[in-house]
Order: sequence, then C-alpha cells, then structure tokens
Amino acid sequence: MRVAVIGANGQLGSDVVAAFLRNGDEVFGFTHSDIELDSATSVEAVLSVCCPEFIVNTAAMHHVEKCESDPRDAFAVNALGAKSVATFAQREGATVAHISTDYVFDGHKGAPYVETDAAAPLNAYGITKLAGENFTSAVATKHFVLRVSAIYGQQPCRAKGGLNFVELMLKLSRERDELRVVDDEFVTPTPTVQIATQLVTLSRSSSYGLYHATAEGSCSWYEFAREIFEATGTKVRLEKARPGEFPAKVPRPRYSVLENRALKTIGANIFTDWRDGLHEYLNIRSQMAVTTS
Ligand SMILES: NC(=O)c1ccc[n+]([C@@H]2O[C@H](COP(=O)([O-])OP(=O)(O)OC[C@H]3O[C@@H](n4cnc5c(N)ncnc54)[C@H](OP(=O)(O)O)[C@@H]3O)[C@@H](O)[C@H]2O)c1
Repeated sequence: MRVAVIGANGQLGSDVVAAFLRNGDEVFGFTHSDIELDSATSVEAVLSVCCPEFIVNTAAMHHVEKCESDPRDAFAVNALGAKSVATFAQREGATVAHISTDYVFDGHKGAPYVETDAAAPLNAYGITKLAGENFTSAVATKHFVLRVSAIYGQQPCRAKGGLNFVELMLKLSRERDELRVVDDEFVTPTPTVQIATQLVTLSRSSSYGLYHATAEGSCSWYEFAREIFEATGTKVRLEKARPGEFPAKVPRPRYSVLENRALKTIGANIFTDWRDGLHEYLNIRSQMAVTTS
C-alpha cells in the first residue's frame, strides 16, 4: 500500500512512518518543509506526486496557548488543512486517517468519554481540531478520525519544546530534590508507538468512522509521575500540587479520559494498560541508550 504521512518528523508521525515501513508498505513521509497544511495548493501539489492510497495526517498547530492567541492560524492549519487533505483523498479514492484530540471535550462528564458523547471544547485548539474532524468526516467517505490523549514517544514533541512528560519528569528529578505535580487533571497517557500500530491495523479495514484511540485506564499527572519514578527506580520527593498552584493560562478539560468503545466494537482495539505502555516505552528508551553509548 502507498502511504503518505504528514508531520513525518513529529513525535507521532515518526512512529507512524516506522510502523508502516515495518509492515512492508511504501511510505512517503512529509515534513513541514515539504508541505504547508494551511495552503490547499501545497497539499494538492505534494500529495499528487506520490498518489497515496492511505494518508495519515498527524500534523497540527497544537500549542494550546499559541492557538488561543492566534485562532485564525490554528483554524487554517487544524480545520482548513484537514479539509484540503480530505478533499484530495475523496477525489483520488484514497483513505484519510486524521489525528484529533481529547481536548474536544470539556471534562465535565467525570467518566470516560465514548465516541457518541457530545463534544464541547473549552479552547481554540479544541474548537479548531473539532472543525478538522468535521471537515474530514463530511468530505472524505473513506476516513478514520482518531482522538488521542497525552501522547509520548521516542521522538520529541516538536510543538511543545522537545520534552514529553516522561522525559520532563526524569530531567527535573535530576535537577531538583522535590517535584510538585497536579493531581486533579486526569488523562490516559498513550505511547505513540501503539497509536501507530493501531493505524496500520485500521488501514487494512473498511470500518470507517470516529475512534477513540488511547491506552487503557487513566491517571492523574501526579500518578503518572509516580509510576515513572517507580519504574525507573528514581529517588525524588514527589508531592501533589496544591489546587491552583499551577494556574492554566487557557482553560483545559480537567478530565479527558477516553474509552475506545468503537475500536472494541469492531474487535480492533490493540491498546494495553497505560502502565504497560509506559514500561514498554522505558524498555525501548534503555535499549536505545545502550545502542547509542
Ligand atoms: N502531544 C500531545 O500530547 C497530543 C495530545 C492529543 C492530540 N495530539 C495530536 O496529535 C498529533 C501529533 O502530535 P505530535 O505530538 O506528534 O506533534 P509534533 O511532534 O509537534 O509534530 C507535529 C508535526 O506537524 C508539523 N506541522 C505543524 N504545523 C504544520 C503545518 N502548518 N503544515 C505542515 N506541517 C505542520 C510539525 O512540523 P514543524 O514542527 O516543523 O512545524 C511536526 O512535524 C497532532 O494532530 C495533535 O493535535 C497531540
């Protein structure tokens, strides 16, 4: 299968490229220097050259504060960019897999969100990503929209200054005696390598639609940090932050745990418990450290 990956050098995109290559597919990876999502002309020109049968769009403007201060640019990339990709896919008979976010929800449910729950984003990022989902599903008949949450991978997240949460905690633990982490925001930390595997599975299916695609279970950021330190044997004093100690500049959902109900319904869910995903990530990380030392 000919597969195009947009955002190929990103945290998720790099694992998606690797997963399709491992699967024996012909992969065309495009970085921001190859393709500009906010230009329909650029999307058209770049995708036309490789004639993809399956297109994965991992690229986004997803720095939450930047989206809030520049919603026009965020809409141009996250919504109109998704529309351009979907328009190309529909005309050429290709399938598009679009990556979205748990931030389409307001967090008030207090129980895991399923695909049929109403979206109610709290910020410009979530609003523009929801618009991207809607353009994708309205324009491209053959589409997969995957909502992911709190992702981390071996390649750094380019939009968030390079360090994922695991690496940030490990770095801070080397610099400080005590760390304070919020215990009132709940997510499902999900390794990008699992999302990439899920995409390969879906690329062989015609069960198009909207999917929640996160690891199983949930935790607060404090609980995630505790698991990281326990799993790595890191000695640091970890405390729960006081309510309001780290005020967010932009409103965010306090609870954005997703349930992969649609994937389970079609018997395609590949995700494991978030702790297993973390241990797998740490194992690969140690192997890479040995290889590069
Ligand atoms: N990170 C999270 O915790 C999280 C949580 C939920 C959902 N998501 C979603 O997951 C997806 C992947 O995130 P990630 O962590 O892999 O992000 P990332 O590491 O920042 O990668 C994003 C990629 O998109 C490219 N890009 C940005 N703007 C572009 C544009 N206008 N045109 C073309 N390419 C552009 C970036 O290139 P440059 O860096 O060179 O601009 C980069 O290659 C995104 O759709 C995001 O909304 C992420």
